[in-house]
Amino acid sequence: MTQHISLTRYLVEQQREHGNIPSQLRLLIEVVARACKRIAISVNKGALGEVLGSAGTENVQGEVQKKLDVISNEVLIEANEWGGHLAAMASEEMDDIHVVPNRYPQGEYLLLFDPLDGSSNIDVNVSIGTIFSVLTKPEGQIGVSDQDFLQAGQRQAAAGYCVYGPQTTLVLTVGSGVVMFTLDREQGTFVLTNDNVQIPADTKEFAVNMSNQRHWAAPVQRYIGECLEGKSGARGKDFNMRWVGSMVADVHRILCRGGVFLYPWDSREPTKPGKLRLMYEANPMAFLVEQAGGMATNGLERIMDLQPTQLHERVSVVLGSRNEVQVVTDYHRNAS
Ligand code: AHG
Ligand code: MN
Ligand code: MN
Repeated sequence: MTQHISLTRYLVEQQREHGNIPSQLRLLIEVVARACKRIAISVNKGALGEVLGSAGTENVQGEVQKKLDVISNEVLIEANEWGGHLAAMASEEMDDIHVVPNRYPQGEYLLLFDPLDGSSNIDVNVSIGTIFSVLTKPEGQIGVSDQDFLQAGQRQAAAGYCVYGPQTTLVLTVGSGVVMFTLDREQGTFVLTNDNVQIPADTKEFAVNMSNQRHWAAPVQRYIGECLEGKSGARGKDFNMRWVGSMVADVHRILCRGGVFLYPWDSREPTKPGKLRLMYEANPMAFLVEQAGGMATNGLERIMDLQPTQLHERVSVVLGSRNEVQVVTDYHRNAS
């Protein structure tokens, strides 16, 4: 019988062999994983748990919050407050950072999350997920402020997501490759199911919201236009398209079998760089994708090199199979 390696065992053995998961980071990852299990239970209950539908409130981005957005946010905050591993948290669903209250010890890490990604898919039973990013609080500062969070993605200590789909899968990087764990519901533990995730460099599959086509800039028009031309066009191959509408599920597919994902700038709201958020959507996904051999840019620059200026800032995203992201990025660079 193959031996099952639990998340805990994996983290302990990584620290023993490579010294790359100190105890506070291990606790953090385990606590996030535990919170994801709780969120998975609520997600699975659906209508029976009275968790579907709108919460009747709006978040800082002016989006209507679903009940499960609010529940997931609360689960993550509650789970992470008391352990002593964190200084503060930031979330898509909170205007401001949440500093660990005085009654608990403060740790050295900062945690950012999109508690539930793919909110429009919650009520229709389509895959959704939790995305998280871990930073280290800059040394020598007393207290915590927004400023401490404004670090480029390349400084992430860890990143991951948990996708609530036909299976519940936790995907993680601490900067030495990407690993996947599948939730064993009988045991209640995450079990290692892929210890070396690799994105193929080439792909014939793209993911983009085609309904926005008329609003895109010329380089994106060109790239997708050429994909649609297929074998007889400039790219000389037929492409397939997939769009779940949950970034977490679209990225998961790309980590499993390759592909390119785009959420580009468009002219509907020309002052916004894109729809997705840099710090808790694009950065963690870029870290995972790069660690799996892929590439992630905003069309011009590497996402993880971008210096954030605001907690909730947005960014244009192109990520996935290396050679394909390179083509999209070249088209942008040639045009500018
Ligand atoms: P969230 O549910 O956290 O607000 O994020 C939704 C994002 C992302 O998951 C997805 O790729 C994109 O929005 C879908 O947007 P469309 O409405 O354009 O399909
Ligand atoms: Mn999201
Ligand atoms: Mn969300």
